[in-house]
Amino acid sequence: MKTVLVTGSGGQLGMCIKDIAVSSKETSFIYANSSELDITNRKDVFSFFIDKNIDYCINCAAYTAVDTAETEIEKATKINVEGVQNLAEACKEKGTILIHISTDFVFDGSKITPYLETNQTNPKGVYGKTKLQGEKVVKSVLNKHFIIRTSWLYSEHGNNFMKTMLRLGKEREVLSVVNDQKGTPTYAGDLAKVILKVIETNNSSFGTYHYSNKGVTTWYEFAKEIFEESKILIDLKPITTAAYPTAAERPKFSALDSSKIKSILNLEIPFWKKRLKKVLSKTNK
Ligand SMILES: NC(=O)c1ccc[n+]([C@@H]2O[C@H](COP(=O)([O-])OP(=O)(O)OC[C@H]3O[C@@H](n4cnc5c(N)ncnc54)[C@H](OP(=O)(O)O)[C@@H]3O)[C@@H](O)[C@H]2O)c1
Repeated sequence: MKTVLVTGSGGQLGMCIKDIAVSSKETSFIYANSSELDITNRKDVFSFFIDKNIDYCINCAAYTAVDTAETEIEKATKINVEGVQNLAEACKEKGTILIHISTDFVFDGSKITPYLETNQTNPKGVYGKTKLQGEKVVKSVLNKHFIIRTSWLYSEHGNNFMKTMLRLGKEREVLSVVNDQKGTPTYAGDLAKVILKVIETNNSSFGTYHYSNKGVTTWYEFAKEIFEESKILIDLKPITTAAYPTAAERPKFSALDSSKIKSILNLEIPFWKKRLKKVLSKTNK
């Protein structure tokens, strides 16, 4: 019987894992949200691990507010670096395999073809910098780890672009969305399935991986698809990043090449548009 701890379980990805991970004969899940386990509290992290035989820790806990991070550097660092270090060290001590989630924002966006795991990182903002530092901590503390970088997560849970567009579609008649940042919308439920497949298959090809849905698009095209599929009539205007300044600079291109994880897990990766259609048909019911 495997025991799997999910930290940050109240967030979008944590909730998606909960949706699909029914406790089976072979696996039992312990879910810890931020009030049940604050990963920045080293003492609490170690005592949480002490009397449990945890085989895997899936770290869904993170500071994810990309723009606010620019001014909350200390808080972002505490969660994305120090919190991750606490988890990694507790995992190392107990022989637990750590599955840590990272981001496409570790790249600067200067490429024009999807990023490979081996490509040079160079985050533009504080969020990406702290996430990259978190990755480095994981790698330096324990060998038994999977770092999975993903992109543009959305789902029926938490705050995400799809849900924001559905809300704005009811409130606005006109909306402008940036059309010069490219990446791949990824359904968090698909990522959750991939993470669980790593565990179910006892995969031991530790290391760094990319996982996103298939295809490349822009935020404008993503929004357009959400409105069309939901039959929301809105005057949607494509704009440039320059016309929509944000506190954090984002990569112009951050699509990820998922072939490495596809081959170790023998995955079928859904095309983003096809997946979005399915998710919306459930959400809009
Ligand atoms: N969302 C995206 O578009 C995206 C894209 C690429 C990569 N990622 C990565 O994917 C992972 C999951 O993202 P998500 O979308 O599920 O994020 P999310 O919805 O913001 O969830 C993050 C969770 O972490 C919790 N948390 C924050 N500080 C904590 C602490 N000190 N101890 C324990 N838990 C804490 C939060 O709890 P509270 O709400 O109670 O603070 C929240 O439930 C993250 O590593 C993120 O960097 C996300």
